[in-house]
This record gives sequence, structure tokens and C-alpha cells, in this order.
Amino acid sequence: MTAIDYSSRIPNNVNLDGDRRLQRALENWQPRFDDWWMEMGPEGFQQSEVYLRTAVDVGKEGWAHFGHVKMPDYRWGIFLSHADDDRKIGFGDLKGESVWQEVPGEFRTDLRRLIVVQGDTEPASVEQQRHLGATAPSLYDLRNLFQVNVEEGRHLWAMVYLLHGYFGRDGRDEADAMLERRSGDPDQPRILGAFNEETPDWLSFYMFTYFTDRDGKYQLGALRESAFDPLSRTCDFMLKEEAHHMFVGASGIGRVVQRTSELMNDNNTDDVEPHGGINLTTLQRYINFHYSVSLDLFGSERSTNAANYFAAGLKGRFAEDAFEDDHVLMGHEGTYTTVADGVFVNETMTARALVNQDLRKGYSDDCEKGLRRWNRVLADHGIEFEFTLPHHGFHRDVGAFADHHVSPDGAILSDDEWEAGIDQWLPSAAERAHVGSLMVPQLEAGKMAAWIAPPSSGINTRPVEFDYVRV
Ligand SMILES: [Fe+2]
Ligand SMILES: [Fe+2]
Repeated sequence: MTAIDYSSRIPNNVNLDGDRRLQRALENWQPRFDDWWMEMGPEGFQQSEVYLRTAVDVGKEGWAHFGHVKMPDYRWGIFLSHADDDRKIGFGDLKGESVWQEVPGEFRTDLRRLIVVQGDTEPASVEQQRHLGATAPSLYDLRNLFQVNVEEGRHLWAMVYLLHGYFGRDGRDEADAMLERRSGDPDQPRILGAFNEETPDWLSFYMFTYFTDRDGKYQLGALRESAFDPLSRTCDFMLKEEAHHMFVGASGIGRVVQRTSELMNDNNTDDVEPHGGINLTTLQRYINFHYSVSLDLFGSERSTNAANYFAAGLKGRFAEDAFEDDHVLMGHEGTYTTVADGVFVNETMTARALVNQDLRKGYSDDCEKGLRRWNRVLADHGIEFEFTLPHHGFHRDVGAFADHHVSPDGAILSDDEWEAGIDQWLPSAAERAHVGSLMVPQLEAGKMAAWIAPPSSGINTRPVEFDYVRV
């Protein structure tokens, strides 16, 4: 494994200099990525200096460098975690065999599909968030937005490297298509539904980074288990960057909860809208929305594709080692919940067909942690209210509940009951408009918009009032 080479046009630790064909192909893709960034990346601020971290190593310690750079000068590169020369396949039919350094012909189509679907989400989220700079609640938040954006751009590079490096001509075509699809475009949409939704305001941004980037964490974690070693090492390093994105979400929502609590207590009211805040009930409805659309990203609970990927060693479960079974799951069974004749029923089926459900359950448990933290903020303020995650059947477009209505507390509903309850459970247009009305920029160093509390500390030991973006 080479160290990261920053003298090349494309920073990398994959010895790109030693593969001229691949290097040329990627150098040919690079200006098109730059064009995409200028067209679809953050609107405005492209000439502002932003306090960004850049990967300079992939080891455990000190992997990032912080400094002010203009976003178009960010060094997007290709970084894989260190190789483990003895790494063995950890699950499926080939468990115990050596991992692959090349793509086996019989799995080429499936692996390419997995990489394309993951890769497509990366530029999609940049596109979804491109208008947010205009309404940033602080320079600190503005910087975090841009940090997330440049790293999602780098994640696209990570996937495009695999496509170019291992999939020949069709890989190059897929890499080109990544720059042609557009989030929300009716003719050329991004592949997954949630990545065609708008991120219209900062509350949605925090919710997205909390719930949807966390889906990314679980998908990347499952791909990190892959027998295709370059994919595994790519995802391993992406996960390191991803942690910050989820921090932005968890702390962002926590700061809104903090501010709302203060406004409630100062004004002795549950309704803080007249005081420029966001009500707890609104926050709960945003949670319901973003959690449920993120659950759809896990696919159907029972899935033949997922079973095949697992059998072949292409995609495992998150932290596969932590599962206390044989990791082969041949002849094992599991249950999943669906709806029949208006009631929940548990069906038994092969455990392999349920690996999406395993992934989704781990995700839900992980989501709960944030809610516990936000509930502690409420308790600290003496407020009797608890955020909860809705039932996993609530507001689903994919999987066992797609054709049914389930309330957040898990009751199966008729169409009429659903219609009658929907404004209680999902953000209403008026509520979204109120949140939108709060989105006024606050770009004075150290100052915060009125609807959100300041962070408890700054970035990389810098103070909160640091000039994170030089506008
Ligand atoms: Fe990402
Ligand atoms: Fe992310």
C-alpha cells in the first residue's frame, strides 16, 4: 500500500501512476466531474474559503488535514483503507476462501449494480442540498454543509474508481451516467426514491444527515464485508468520513431541541412558533418522515437479490462478525412481519432472504440512540415529551407494508383513517412553510439563527466563533 500521493492530478493511494490507462481514463472523467460540481454543487460560495478537512492518510490516527480552501480547489481523490493480505471471505457459500482482487465474471453484473446504486446516492445528496448555503444558520453550519458536500463528491470518486478500474467499458459508461442523472429530474432521476426528494430547509438537512446518511453507513458497512476486496477497502475509508455527516445531523437536531426547550421554558408555552422556534410536534413529524423514507432504502425485508448477494459473498450484514451465527445461514430460518387480511402476521422463511431486514433492524437500533440523546435534552429542561421512532410499517413505499397504511404506533388503518391522521403524523404544508420562514441566513462569525442553539464546541478545536467560511 502506497501513501497518499498528492503530486498527481488525482490524489490517490492506489498507485495510479503505475496504471497509465486507468489514469488517463480517470483524468478524462475529472474535468466532467468539475463541470458537474460547478453546475450542480453548492450554489454560491464557490469562491469563498472554507475551513475543510482533506484526507491525507488512511491510517487510524491523524488522517485529516484542516485548512481554508475554495471548494473547487478541494483535492478529490481515491483513497482505500490498507489491505489485509490474509483477508478471507467472512460469510456466504465461499466463507473462508481468500477474498478477490479482481471481479469474478459470474458476479460482474451484480457487483457493478451494487456499486452503481451506492455511487449514485453520493452526487444525488449534493444536488439535493445545493440551495442550502443561502440560508445557513451560522458560518459553523455552512462549513459543515460544505464539508459534507465535498466528501459526498469524494465518495462519488471512490465508486467511479472501482467502475473504471474493474469494469472496463461498461464501468466507464456507468461512471459517465453518474454525472448525467439529476436528483428530482423527471427524465433522468437518481436511482433511489429518497434521493430525488428536495432538501428544502436546514431542519430537513439535519434530518437527512441523521437518518439518510445513516442508511449510507449501514449500506457501506454491508459492502465493507464484500469478498471483492477493493470494494471492501473503499467502503471502509468512506465510513470514516461518513461519521462526521451523521454527527452534523445528530448535533444539529440536538441543538434545535435545545433551543425549542429554552423557548418553551422562557415563554411558558408548548407553542414556540410565535417566538421564532420549531415546535416539538413538528420535530416529531420530521423524524417520522425522514425515518420512514430512509427505511425504504433498505429494500424489501424479504429479498431474493439480497439472499443471492449474501450467498455469493458480495454484500454481507453490517458488522458481520458480530452476528452470533455461522455466517453461512444455510438451512437457517427467520421470521418477518407482513399484513394479511388486515392483521399483522409473522411469516417464516430462509434467513438468507431476510438479510435486508437484519440490516434494517441494526439501523433502527442505531437511530434510537439519537432519540435518547434528544430526549435527555428535554428531560434536562423539565419538559415532559419524548421523541419516538414510528413503527417500521409506517409510511412505507417499499417492502411488506407498501400496500398498507400503518400508524406511527403500529395500528393498521383504513384509507379513511390514514387520510384523517396524516397531518398529525407527517409535516403539513403549513408546518413546512413555517420552518421555511425561519430560514434566514446568519453569516456573522459566532452568531446563530434564532431557531437553533450554538454547538457545544467548534471544529478541530477551533472556537465556535471562528471564521469557518470567509464569505
Ligand atoms: Fe457518502
Ligand atoms: Fe454522507
